[in-house]
Amino acid sequence: EKDGFDHYMLKEIHEQPRSLRNTMAGRIDEAKREIAMPDLGLLPEAVKEIEKIYIVACGTAYHAGMIGKHVFESLAHIPVEVDVASEFRYRNPLFSQKMLTVVVSQSGETADTLAALREAQRNGSRVLAITNVVGSSIAREADYVITTNAGPEIAVASTKAYTSQVIAFYLLGLYFAQVKQTIAANEREALLHAMTQLPDQVEKILTHADEIRAYAASIKDESQMFFIGRGLDYAVSLEGSLKLKEISYIHSEAYAAGELKHGTLALIEEGTRVVALSTQAHLHEKMVSNITEIKARGAVVLGIALEDNMELHRSVDDVCLIPATHPLLAPILSVIPLQLISYYTAVALGNDVDRPRNLAKSVTVE
Ligand code: F6R
Repeated sequence: EKDGFDHYMLKEIHEQPRSLRNTMAGRIDEAKREIAMPDLGLLPEAVKEIEKIYIVACGTAYHAGMIGKHVFESLAHIPVEVDVASEFRYRNPLFSQKMLTVVVSQSGETADTLAALREAQRNGSRVLAITNVVGSSIAREADYVITTNAGPEIAVASTKAYTSQVIAFYLLGLYFAQVKQTIAANEREALLHAMTQLPDQVEKILTHADEIRAYAASIKDESQMFFIGRGLDYAVSLEGSLKLKEISYIHSEAYAAGELKHGTLALIEEGTRVVALSTQAHLHEKMVSNITEIKARGAVVLGIALEDNMELHRSVDDVCLIPATHPLLAPILSVIPLQLISYYTAVALGNDVDRPRNLAKSVTVE
């Protein structure tokens, strides 16, 4: 059942080259080099009318939604708010018919996300669901559905569902951009080409899993960890931090690197372990200066960067390089080492990786 892997989580991490291909399958028209969304039902005329998007989800799916915000704003020029479902549904959000609400849920059964969907519809917003489970409550009630096709996810800690949700956002963002003509043809083609490379690039990262296992062994006795980044890297930091805490039980915090000096820097002391993501060229210099600040206070830093960026080496203690890609797509690659860090740390600690304490796979109560 686990295909020879020790845990479902590791199996699912290794399934990502395939699950990513499955999410993209049939949605990229290779001949025309454009996105085809034949099964979506959201017609170009309706897309053109969308003036604002709410993205609503919980946990890991919320972190995917944070990437979705960058994608919609940068590609389709539509302003986006992202919210956790349990906040969104009780804060009386403002709706109009020119809004689209996007809910993201692996299981399609999360109580707060389902309630947010209903709240949006009651207020006249159409709802698009990104979900992994065909026939789930959320899939049935949404106006439009993108099924991620990642296959069943058994481990409580979500891995392949997350990367497929992020891919779904790229597909949607590109589709909207295509319809609204907010993206030049050559830029769209470059992105599509880079997307099709991602599964092989994930495969390549997975062949270096042993190096990550060694890193995990070195942090297993830590009482706290930090993940820092800016922009998309901050969104991925949040996901890396959640992964680590939910199965290793090490207290971990993700921070927008520019916010460090507004408080968190006080927690950095000799030997504090930090994972710093820097995949966004335009933010790289700023990251280097944040890393320099924490290193001056004794932090031990693992940098995660694209392999075409060699400058990071000088400022960190250790570096994990991932294959070069389009900056918007970097989260799909940079999250893989973070998933592996979480997995191997939990294994080193002897924890029940697939069924962490206190957590359920599908949260159908509030
Ligand atoms: C974390 C994790 C949870 C889920 C969250 C939402 O690894 O799996 O944070 O992402 O409970 O679940 P779904 O996506 O089923 O709505």
